[in-house]
Amino acid sequence: MASSCDRVSPSLTAYARAAEMLGSGRLVAFPTETVYGLGADATDPAAVAALFAAKDRPASNPMIVHVADAAAADRVGTLDGTAARLAAALWPGPLTVVVPRRPTTAVVAAVSANLDSIAVRVPGHPVAQGVLRAVARPIVAPSANRSGTVSPTTADHVEESLGGRIDLLIDGGACPVGLGSTVVACLPGVFRLLRPGAITAERVEAAAGCALGGEAALGGAALAPGQMASHYAPRRPVRLGAVDAAPDEAVLAFGPDDDLPGGRMRLNLSQTGDFAEAAHNLYAMLRALDRPDVRAIAVMPIPATGLGVALNDRLARAAAPRPSEAGPHAGVSEP
Ligand code: TXA
Ligand code: MG
Repeated sequence: MASSCDRVSPSLTAYARAAEMLGSGRLVAFPTETVYGLGADATDPAAVAALFAAKDRPASNPMIVHVADAAAADRVGTLDGTAARLAAALWPGPLTVVVPRRPTTAVVAAVSANLDSIAVRVPGHPVAQGVLRAVARPIVAPSANRSGTVSPTTADHVEESLGGRIDLLIDGGACPVGLGSTVVACLPGVFRLLRPGAITAERVEAAAGCALGGEAALGGAALAPGQMASHYAPRRPVRLGAVDAAPDEAVLAFGPDDDLPGGRMRLNLSQTGDFAEAAHNLYAMLRALDRPDVRAIAVMPIPATGLGVALNDRLARAAAPRPSEAGPHAGVSEP
């Protein structure tokens, strides 16, 4: 394990300490229902700069502002119409909305990469809620891992990736959902899914009362800055759609896997083919299979329905050519 950091269990005392540290510009990692976030005071330019540096995150990749409730979100960005309906139906929960940034907000512009839009979310996890209520100011919190690597779903993952770079880590156990939030753009004339997640497109449309727009009609790369083709990537290469495995490959299985031959080791995301169980296990299993004695990780096919859409999205990014292997424009292929 890399260098350690100050690690505490959730309690009112821990939340008060986290709030005090955040208020003085320090970085605090805490669990949300999706993945662990690395939080900083979104209104403090030096804290925001320290956060980008701790993650090695490119300044062009905007981050999500976390607040305790929809009223606080509406002070950061304009939550009207579609965004307000989504907030009412799906918050607190694993949903992020990208909305027009309020010119009056104290959130520093670098948080949203100087865009006119801003991403906001109200997490439902009790520890995230405890921290946000104690600090009572907007907290910017990207996933608590080095940029481009596998997202953290346990406190150990955070410590492995960022220990020594953060000031406090609240250990709230494994994140129940296990995949980053669904990100939806609700901008003038634009209603588009930017990142699939635990809340499916069907649920988003039902809550909004209207259909998500297709990609061609709507703005393209400018809407999803910083969404790298290669992301969430283990060190070993990832091979998708595997129906067999070489002796030096590790198998990441889904559903019954007795018929799939080969592999030097094997983990199953969900023996019964349950998407939620698979999402919960995905990042921990990718980490566990990412071993020096493994040449590549062979992943069995996962149906692209319901939460399977988000699972396939993360696996496609884990399997995409890494920036060092691809051409100069490979990092920005998300349309
Ligand atoms: O579940 C989550 O969303 C977790 C937890 C910690 O809340 N956070 C997370 O943050 O996954 P991060 O920084 O790893 O991903 C943020 C995503 C990126 O895909 C980014 O491009 C998008 O949100 N995003 C942020 N602001 C945006 C904006 N103004 N316009 C378009 N996309 C934006
Ligand atoms: Mg991330």
